[in-house]
Amino acid sequence: MNPKQGQQNSQDSPQTRNAVRMNDIHHVIAVLSGKGGVGKSLVSSLLAVALRQQRHQVGILDADITGPSIPKMFFPHTARPTSEPRGMLPVESRTGIKVMSINLLLEQEDQAVIWRGPLIGKAIQQFWEEVLWGRLDYLIVDLPPGTSDASLTVMQSLSLSGAVLVTAPPALAGMVVKKAAQMAVQLPVPILGLVENMSYFVCPDTGKKYEIFGPSHAEETASAMHVPFLGRLPIDPQIAALCDAGRIEDYPAEAFGPIAKALVDSAPMARPPAPRRAS
Ligand SMILES: Nc1ncnc2c1ncn2[C@@H]1O[C@H](COP(=O)(O)OP(=O)(O)OP(=O)(O)O)[C@@H](O)[C@H]1O
Ligand SMILES: [Mg+2]
Repeated sequence: MNPKQGQQNSQDSPQTRNAVRMNDIHHVIAVLSGKGGVGKSLVSSLLAVALRQQRHQVGILDADITGPSIPKMFFPHTARPTSEPRGMLPVESRTGIKVMSINLLLEQEDQAVIWRGPLIGKAIQQFWEEVLWGRLDYLIVDLPPGTSDASLTVMQSLSLSGAVLVTAPPALAGMVVKKAAQMAVQLPVPILGLVENMSYFVCPDTGKKYEIFGPSHAEETASAMHVPFLGRLPIDPQIAALCDAGRIEDYPAEAFGPIAKALVDSAPMARPPAPRRAS
């Protein structure tokens, strides 16, 4: 599969018939926000890392086709998936997290993917149906901002166990995340909880906490939406440095561990329902 193959009908592909039958994925969790740049990809990555540290088999499907960030966070050097007759193998990170992203298929990481919605949807379906994920306890799906094509494809075509919402302190982010929550409710996809990113900054010299983007509204937002509040992440320059270096797996576990634990505790233990086909 290369980016142009997004134009093929995935229903006709022999890989579809093989790969999707071979996969045994227990929980599929989408990470969404509605708002751009609030840390969806970071939360997807840290969630995958925390679950992997708990010895789960974990994959990340990067559903952000036009602005993929996951490979940059996990791979310090160019990484490429390999193919076999039954489908495409995801690339494994240093700690064994399986990753599939459009950026792993592009010749240049900064090459633009300028596709309309139907092609984007098809590419996401191919990542679901034609990739040999194997047996996974958790597949984390990193969504782009917004509530349009990619989010709709993921919510309608993948067997989601639930969705994690990501917000940030500004009220604007809270307003937009409520739109994403409404989308999940309407489709319907269970909301597993809300994470607030960039909540505060702890000055390394004094240990004093500053709410740089203003006071948090996350707990009120979560309770207004009747969803569990999973926790807060600080603004931490180490996060940005590790993301840029492809070493997010080196981020200290204790910072995200409680959020991942709260999420696992709230995640349904039953297998996800059969996928709802996009109309
Ligand atoms: N808590 C944080 N502390 C420091 N840097 C952060 C934090 N959260 C995010 N960043 C930085 O901001 C960048 C953007 O975050 P991220 O890609 O997770 O946002 P996003 O919501 O997925 O964006 P998009 O809407 O474009 O998909 C990260 O690569 C990281 O460098
Ligand atoms: Mg992102």
